[in-house]
Amino acid sequence: MNSDYESVVIVTGAANNIGLAIAKKLSTQFKVVIADIADATDVARSFHRAVSFKCDVTDPAQCAQLVEFAAQQGVLTTVVHSAAITAPATMIVDIPQDQWRRIIDVNLNGTFNLMQACIPSLQSNAKQLRNHGTSLISPSVVLITSRAAKTGFAALSNEGGATKAHYCASKAAVISLTKSLALELAQDGIRVNSVAPGPIEGDMIPKDKWDEIASRVPLKRMGKPEDIAEAVNFLVSPAANFITGHILDVNGGTLMD
Ligand SMILES: NC(=O)c1ccc[n+]([C@@H]2O[C@H](COP(=O)([O-])OP(=O)(O)OC[C@H]3O[C@@H](n4cnc5c(N)ncnc54)[C@H](O)[C@@H]3O)[C@@H](O)[C@H]2O)c1
Repeated sequence: MNSDYESVVIVTGAANNIGLAIAKKLSTQFKVVIADIADATDVARSFHRAVSFKCDVTDPAQCAQLVEFAAQQGVLTTVVHSAAITAPATMIVDIPQDQWRRIIDVNLNGTFNLMQACIPSLQSNAKQLRNHGTSLISPSVVLITSRAAKTGFAALSNEGGATKAHYCASKAAVISLTKSLALELAQDGIRVNSVAPGPIEGDMIPKDKWDEIASRVPLKRMGKPEDIAEAVNFLVSPAANFITGHILDVNGGTLMD
């Protein structure tokens, strides 16, 4: 590793909304690999120091190719996993079997696939950084979970009593994985944390519900993708050097635990 290497971050789900805001924020200090199932070529061109790679996180082979691509860009030190899907609030008895499986496959199995692919590269790069004695980079992973993981209830608007049990369960599993990963990777000096957003402006929540939801948020507004990007930016920075296994709530006060 020479002294003018470029530190690389993979941001999944970065073709849109929260992932995109994270990628933009991190591009001031990293070379960013925008990884998404959607084509993000134009997105990557639109800001400084970013390249895109098309990757479906449900496919372990594509996750491995993503890591190979990232290694060609510089030194992979950081991974932010924001890609996920949701579904309309539905009573558990009415959730179609294939919808349940798809959400678990993207949100949980996708996280596992990405982590399995990234860990060897992160471990070897963290070791080399340690040998070089640099304190400018603190290798880490941030997984995006959700307030809903903790409440079992995704919506803050009236959904007639229905929840998003599959989405909530998949995101709760991401919190658990964060803690296992944090313990396993601590010996490598790699920190692993989560951010748990509350309701954020974007396509995941229909726009006609934003006002109603905002009125139920103690801070009286929906969150913005940039609110999450700021939290991630802190967690991946050396300022958070002693923080691992933490689930950071960024939710306007909708849950305090
Ligand atoms: N928007 C919210 O209110 C909210 C609240 C809590 C948590 N979150 C979480 O924040 C993250 C980002 O949410 P968002 O609002 O930006 O959602 P979004 O739907 O705007 O973006 C998700 C991105 O993930 C990508 N994606 C979907 N399936 C994929 C796959 N199989 N492989 C690779 N990429 C895939 C999509 O193409 C999209 O670009 C998600 O993890 C979500 O669960 C969002």
